[in-house]
Amino acid sequence: MKRILSAILLLLLVAFESIAQKFNVDTQLRYCHGQVLRSLKELSPIDYTKIPRNIGADEQHWNLRNAKTAEEWCSGFWPGILWMTGSVIHESPSAESDKMTIIDAAAGYTAELEFLAHQSAYDHDLGFQMIGSFLKGYEYLPEGSSLREQYKKTLLNAADTLATLFNEKAGTILSWPRNIGMFGGHNTIMDNMINLELLFWASNNGGGRQLYDIATKHALTTMRHHFRKDGSINHVAVYDINTGKHLRNCNHQGFNDESLWSRGQSWAIYGYTMVYRFTHDKRFLRQAIKSADIMLSQLPDDGIPYWDMRDPKIPNTYRDASAAAVIADALIELSGYVTGKKSAYYMTMAEKMLATLSSPEYLSESKNPAFLMHSVGNWPAGSEIDYSINYADYYYIEALLRLKAKQP
Ligand code: GLY
Repeated sequence: MKRILSAILLLLLVAFESIAQKFNVDTQLRYCHGQVLRSLKELSPIDYTKIPRNIGADEQHWNLRNAKTAEEWCSGFWPGILWMTGSVIHESPSAESDKMTIIDAAAGYTAELEFLAHQSAYDHDLGFQMIGSFLKGYEYLPEGSSLREQYKKTLLNAADTLATLFNEKAGTILSWPRNIGMFGGHNTIMDNMINLELLFWASNNGGGRQLYDIATKHALTTMRHHFRKDGSINHVAVYDINTGKHLRNCNHQGFNDESLWSRGQSWAIYGYTMVYRFTHDKRFLRQAIKSADIMLSQLPDDGIPYWDMRDPKIPNTYRDASAAAVIADALIELSGYVTGKKSAYYMTMAEKMLATLSSPEYLSESKNPAFLMHSVGNWPAGSEIDYSINYADYYYIEALLRLKAKQP
């Protein structure tokens, strides 16, 4: 059995090698840089309260969303794209002024989200909103800069705000306070795993031990109740709001209650890999591996998942570039926590996915100023189907930067 598995792995590695070789991380980072400058030009004069969110398949320009409402869960991704693109080093006569343009815009968009840290929590998406904007900015800015210190205070405030959604009895953060009635209880969604990074980061940066404990407890409870035996996820877990008893699981953004919603699965892979980074607890590493392996075992040949891997219309249904970007991004990190063939496998799969995303099939190029096309936002709601979406671009460039950091 072991020998058969090794042979399959070898075949996969050889098959993917030729595609991976054609993909050049620096070329793709230059492409992202160019698309960002193009976006900023199209958006000028910039209104920082309007965030580029998506572009439909038949559109050429960003659709903007209001940054001044906590309901806009994607408001952190665009400033995050700018902070990350600003960190890319280029050699060109306009490199310095291009960098200033990008970083000024990153700071401008980030500042508009400050209010989120100073009002009561609307929902768990506060993490997505703050990680892309203030945390990416904090990581970019030089140590000792006053703006960096200001961002730190905002992040610590936001972490305390997010922690108010934690229900001790259930052992998880309430993802959607507005949906307690709809789900019949305290609801927690797999996406919520990503937001734990804000709590872990804050705990490591003066925010107190209780934030670490909340994040760890949430990850453990989610591990217990959200997963099926094969490692695939249920999107939503519902708990009794008073006793904390786990009541049931259900779907919200996937095909149905038994399906494998690809972006939900990608949040699990990314989330548990990130939790392992902060905790070094092997239980979380095992969960990340299990979540990754079921997903990877089902991917089509080019490595890009269908929006839901159990949509009965496969292959005549949509792919989801955003899920591919999140998975590739997570696999690059995960490959560093395992060894030998497993590590090589995760890295090869990440490169393969990024190579396909970096092909004409998925790149927006001249069609629109985003990086990628073909993401699916919310299929059951009929929203953002086959779109360019800012979070696909965010995880794509994060993956490219992680890959670059691993290269000699
Ligand atoms: N709520 C996050 C997502 O749509 O993936």
